[in-house]
Amino acid sequence: TVNRHAVAELRGKHVLITAGPTREPLDPVRYISNHSSGKMGFAIAEAAVNAGAEVTLVAGPVSLQTPRGCERIDVTTADDMLDACEQFARKADIFISTAAVADYKAVSVAENKIKKSDNELTLTFTKNPDILATISCKDNRPFCVGFAAESQDVEQYARQKLINKKLDMIAANDITADGLGFNSDNNALHVLWSGGDKKLPATSKSELAHQLISLITTRLNEIEKN
Ligand code: CTP
Ligand code: CA
Repeated sequence: TVNRHAVAELRGKHVLITAGPTREPLDPVRYISNHSSGKMGFAIAEAAVNAGAEVTLVAGPVSLQTPRGCERIDVTTADDMLDACEQFARKADIFISTAAVADYKAVSVAENKIKKSDNELTLTFTKNPDILATISCKDNRPFCVGFAAESQDVEQYARQKLINKKLDMIAANDITADGLGFNSDNNALHVLWSGGDKKLPATSKSELAHQLISLITTRLNEIEKN
């Protein structure tokens, strides 16, 4: 483990973090969602608190304890998550988007339970808002950090997201890597920014969170100096 006293200094900074999946209802008993334990986002929230930041954690449905010292807002759908983020992004210096947001939601949520029949079932979906892209396009936006979970061409897809979503940094992970990622306590990240990158090899999500917070702080200080 690293020297926890040597972590980056974020005193006086407000950090907004999304974590976990979103859940999009289909009817009163069903929903679609993504695999996401929320562990990486919660670990980052804890690391940011330890670095002295004021932290707001917007969480989808997860079964995790709130890290000590951070404000937690629970949400269910992507629309709710966007509302919460827009509210807190105004005062945030850093936005870290770790949430596995559902890309689509049902065009209409059935009022009553959809009954089984002999026919095939067809549902129509419409796109959810892109929370990260919405925040990163605002004036006076916070330093924006995205995550990219990819199963192929990891660096290439992540670089595209860095550019397309106008991000300051993106943390990519290869979801095919053994024993890492979803629901695991360990992960590895390839962090990319304009003109640089750093590989953070496999370790605990808590250790990785501290390393990512250090990288973010270094980049933020570089930008603020210019
Ligand atoms: N993200 C978001 N809102 C969405 C979709 C994604 O805020 N509706 C954020 C995620 O939290 C992540 C980043 O955007 O930080 C990249 O998410 P990802 O799912 O990898 O990218 P998409 O743009 O949705 O593209 P695709 O799923 O097709 O790879
Ligand atoms: Ca997506």
